[in-house]
Amino acid sequence: MIDLGFCQIDEIKPEDCEAIVNFHRVTRTVTDLSLAPDLAEANIADGFYDRIWAEHFKTKDKQETKGRALKVNLEGCIIGIVRYGLIPNLPYEPLVKHGAHGWGELHQLYIDPAYQNHGLGRTLFIQATQDLASWGAARMLVRCFRDNSLTRRFYEHLSAQFLCDELSVVKRNGKNFEIPTSHYVLPNLSDYVRQTS
Ligand SMILES: CC(C)(COP(=O)(O)OP(=O)(O)OC[C@H]1O[C@@H](n2cnc3c(N)ncnc32)[C@H](O)[C@@H]1OP(=O)(O)O)[C@@H](O)C(=O)NCCC(=O)NCCS
Repeated sequence: MIDLGFCQIDEIKPEDCEAIVNFHRVTRTVTDLSLAPDLAEANIADGFYDRIWAEHFKTKDKQETKGRALKVNLEGCIIGIVRYGLIPNLPYEPLVKHGAHGWGELHQLYIDPAYQNHGLGRTLFIQATQDLASWGAARMLVRCFRDNSLTRRFYEHLSAQFLCDELSVVKRNGKNFEIPTSHYVLPNLSDYVRQTS
């Protein structure tokens, strides 16, 4: 058992770049097994260098939308990350029937395989729900590759409700990859936060 008392949860900063890429190299070689090898490799690079993170820090500076990226530190090593934020525009039409506004999204959640099943994933998931609710989100979207069945079961265990599968187009290294992606919702964040606090 690891002692969670020795873990610290801090904001991810631009200078964590290399450590985050290394972290993704460990976690994603396990979680991206269902992906084409070139996409899996490109996804690791995307783990920090890509526009997603550039936008995260740019947006954060401008304070345009609320978002947060956190790392779990254990003795100087990153053993978990989470990134979430408000989403001003809904990416998929089928979700509109659940509400056109008031969405937050859990963008990424990864725990190092060596430290899974110690409650860290739940801790970061709940932190995301609390922050998103405090920023005014009514519900939280969670997306996950459809073939990532272990992670889907984790989200279902934490009460996320399945909405639909859609093809996501992922652009990497000048190529477009279409990946079936499952969409989940926590439909009532304020109730969820009340029940899990
Ligand atoms: C999914 C993941 C975040 C879970 O993190 P974790 O720290 O191992 O999970 P926790 O220890 O906090 O588990 C919390 C609860 O979920 C349950 N759980 C964990 N993984 C589960 C799974 N695959 N299926 C069903 N339940 C699961 C635990 O048993 C625990 O239940 P309990 O508290 O009711 O007893 C972690 O396995 C991971 O990083 N996987 C890869 C993530 C990934 O693919 N991300 C891409 C999509 S964003």
